[in-house]
Amino acid sequence: MTQNLSSRRYLMCRPTHFAVDYAINPWMDPSAPVDADLAIRQWSTLRQVYLDLGHTVDEIEPLPGLPDMVFAANGATVVDGRALAVQFLNPERADEGPAYASWFERAGFEVHQPKHVNEGEGDILLAGDLLLAGTGFRTAHAAHAQVQEVFGRPVVTLQLVDPRFYHLDTALCVLDPQTVAYLPEAFSPGSQAVLRRLFPDAIIARPADAEVLGLNAVSDGRHVVLPAQATGFAAALTERGYEPIGVDMSELRKAGGGPKCCTLEVRDR
Ligand code: ARG
Repeated sequence: MTQNLSSRRYLMCRPTHFAVDYAINPWMDPSAPVDADLAIRQWSTLRQVYLDLGHTVDEIEPLPGLPDMVFAANGATVVDGRALAVQFLNPERADEGPAYASWFERAGFEVHQPKHVNEGEGDILLAGDLLLAGTGFRTAHAAHAQVQEVFGRPVVTLQLVDPRFYHLDTALCVLDPQTVAYLPEAFSPGSQAVLRRLFPDAIIARPADAEVLGLNAVSDGRHVVLPAQATGFAAALTERGYEPIGVDMSELRKAGGGPKCCTLEVRDR
């Protein structure tokens, strides 16, 4: 295939120990059956899509007893070769923080320890020179100041208001340095005004797309890997010149995750 000029490096965690054993967001129902093999197949397909696009995928060893560790986006925030480690709100996920931090240390990154609850790229998204930072459900507002200090880039606080969209990456997707897509209703009125001001050309998502976690998508600036069920968002992307690639993540959605949750972007220096 032709060389992908916007080739990315991603970190992923195979859902070997995936399960829905507890409920820390409204998507999770521990009494509903989960097909663990199907989850692994869906995850493997996502990984293969990245490889076919010419991206690099690193893998972190999945640890038993950490069923949500597959959601690598929550493992860190990584910009300019610097990694801000995470501190989870929920004790069920606490041990994932040091596991991801140690991966980055071993990989030679400058690792900063978290001072407040921050759930990595679940809530902190790089958009051009800015870092968009969600708060309201998981990442503490106080963490935003540390994010700005560590990365030396302006941080824009966005207030999330709908518990179904508990992480910023469930309500907003960065498509390229200038463009985002988002669901306005997931944000407070003031944050909606901020988003309109910063991104007047944004794709405004519809609830039907957000409700299949359609905004939990991964863009390399041209290809956008998104949940296959988000057909309206896919059409909007095509209209704007992006190339949507649908993947079925239905099994992982039972834990409240989609393609982006499974994918941590590793930005080297
Ligand atoms: N069950 C996980 C949680 O509630 C899902 C995390 C999804 N990750 C994300 N980046 N939105 O923490």
